[in-house]
Amino acid sequence: METQLVEIELADWSAAKPNDEWIAALEAGKVLYFPRLAFDLLPEERGLLTPEVLSPGVRNISLNSDGTLKGAAGDEAVQRAVGAMVLRFREQAQQLIHGLLPHYTPALRLAPTSYRPAQVETRVQSWRADDKRLHVDSFPSRPNYGERILRVFTNANPDGLPRVWRVGEPFEAVAARFLPRAKPYVRWQAKLLRALRVTKSLRSEYDHLMLQLHDGMKSDLEYQKTSPQLTVPFAAGSVWVCFSDQTSHAVMAGQYMLEQTLHLAPAKQYNPDSSPLAILSRLTGRNLV
Ligand code: SIN
Ligand code: FE
Repeated sequence: METQLVEIELADWSAAKPNDEWIAALEAGKVLYFPRLAFDLLPEERGLLTPEVLSPGVRNISLNSDGTLKGAAGDEAVQRAVGAMVLRFREQAQQLIHGLLPHYTPALRLAPTSYRPAQVETRVQSWRADDKRLHVDSFPSRPNYGERILRVFTNANPDGLPRVWRVGEPFEAVAARFLPRAKPYVRWQAKLLRALRVTKSLRSEYDHLMLQLHDGMKSDLEYQKTSPQLTVPFAAGSVWVCFSDQTSHAVMAGQYMLEQTLHLAPAKQYNPDSSPLAILSRLTGRNLV
């Protein structure tokens, strides 16, 4: 398999410049890896690197686009400090994306920023929720009609431990393999899910097929083991960026990650034909949204 990772020697969040090769790689579903780009913690923030900042029963802390913080335990001072740290990461992540992908800037829609202080290895989850299995991101309750999921990740591990991912085969190969096994889209079922409020809006055929790919990949243990894949230890003090609705990925190990999601209409890409919506439309011969 052609490598799905592009390493970039950038060390300054504000110095990113657009580069045609990197843009094409990102839009082809590859991961842009910045091994020398660190999210620097302030000395007083080191104490926030503990799972104890998580409210009981939650996996992530998230800062909504309106500035409200969810999932953090502790008194007001701790909450304020966590919020400030996550906000600083948001600003740096946005600066990086604006520098690398200026054409996206006016079209981006900010989603929550998350801080994940829990250890990956010890997490127990159902197969469908288990991100240790290769998958493309697709969310059952939130249809997105092909809107892109662009994510900026940083590993803030204070003990120098990597965040270990597996990166799988290109999206088109995933789609070619799992589309023939996908259950057909049934419009009345989509309407029922909407009426029962299982979904927040009507699930489109695109959203249905993306979920079928997600579930098809995660439920196929043979595929998990034997499909083309690369294990990538993202170093402590590094950043990586990908379209997680397109890049096949799984997280195997690590602790203390921050992540920013940005949404983008596929029509606003440099090359809209490379989007999952365009690929699935081409493969099925149908308009899916
Ligand atoms: C995921 O998006 O599947 C999880 C990524 C991570 O936790 O590193
Ligand atoms: Fe994921």
